Amino acid sequence: MGAEVVVEGLTKSFGSQAIWRDVTLTLPPGEVSVMLGPSGTGKSVFLKSMIGLLKPDRGRCVVNGVDIVTCSEAELYEVRKLFGVLFQDGALFGSMNLYDNVAFPLREHTRKSEAEIKRVVMDKLELTGLQGAERKLPGEISGGMRKRAGLARALVLDPEIILCDEPDSGLDPVRTAYLSQLLIDLNAQIDATILIVTHNINLARTVPDNLGMLFRKELVMFGPREVLLTSDEPVVEQFLNGRRLGPIGMSEEKDAAQIAQEEAHAAAGHSDGSSEEDLRGIVPQLEPTPGLPERQAVRRRKDRVMQVLHALPTAAQDGIIASLTHEDRLRYGLTAPSPRPAHDDTQEIPAWPGGRP
Ligand SMILES: Nc1ncnc2c1ncn2[C@@H]1O[C@H](COP(=O)(O)OP(=O)(O)OP(=O)(O)O)[C@@H](O)[C@H]1O
Ligand SMILES: [Mg+2]
Repeated sequence: MGAEVVVEGLTKSFGSQAIWRDVTLTLPPGEVSVMLGPSGTGKSVFLKSMIGLLKPDRGRCVVNGVDIVTCSEAELYEVRKLFGVLFQDGALFGSMNLYDNVAFPLREHTRKSEAEIKRVVMDKLELTGLQGAERKLPGEISGGMRKRAGLARALVLDPEIILCDEPDSGLDPVRTAYLSQLLIDLNAQIDATILIVTHNINLARTVPDNLGMLFRKELVMFGPREVLLTSDEPVVEQFLNGRRLGPIGMSEEKDAAQIAQEEAHAAAGHSDGSSEEDLRGIVPQLEPTPGLPERQAVRRRKDRVMQVLHALPTAAQDGIIASLTHEDRLRYGLTAPSPRPAHDDTQEIPAWPGGRP
């Protein structure tokens, strides 16, 4: 099972520019999570902070008992081996062909023979649909292929934790659908903890167990997918529906007057140019390709979410209960009709897992 990652009170600035503060969340072991957020909110900075490439001002990021923020270089070197990272730009070595790029971590971190390396590399290239391209240089292939090569390289060390920074950017919709399936299949096969940063609404709605969103220098929410997919928090709703109407503007946040003006405009029946269809609501989550093992995270997640069910908003509770099978209902002692526990309105919705300290 993949490692749990516990982030507590993480805060990052560059000089006087604050990026985000007090980010607290837990990536549950072996589950798939997605982090959303408008451009420039510091998602890439967050991923880099999680693996110690950037140093946060304060807070902790703990993996297997090691705090990546404060540990020694030697400890960091060890703990980094648990991570497979796909950087936003692919971060391939321009002078190396794809084969050597993907083989690089194996040559650097293992004592495998070239024959063993070849087996692993060809396996990952095939998994990401790059067989036949292994002799090409990064400059000779498309952006989408570079992304996939970066993913292949992130996988060669059998990581316990996989971080993917916009794996879908530069991919066409069909490739993005394949990629979504690939991520779920991968999770089923190796039970790794996965965090994906993406702007792709479809991927965000169908792939992860948990969803989070960074906005206005804070983690707005992080929790089970059902919570964000049914949320009426304006920024979450706007993002998951890809609307212009809402707090997110083109270059920066809108001010209150502008939001009010746009709302009045929309209320008067004017379209904001986005799809008319309201995408809100829970859609079925992708399942592994038939023939692959079940995702072990599914059972663990159900147990975990059922324990905090009473603290979730009503719409999320309804969605979770509706997704339970007959066996689940017996397991959790739920009997028809509608056994939803009363929602405690006095309690703030916890940004489960972790919550705020
Ligand atoms: N090494 C750095 N030094 C100084 N500022 C930086 C550095 N890296 C990032 N930033 C700044 O931090 C902010 C957040 O950048 P980041 O790349 O994390 O955004 P993002 O959410 O990943 O955006 P996008 O969705 O466009 O990829 C930006 O204002 C950026 O200029
Ligand atoms: Mg980024």
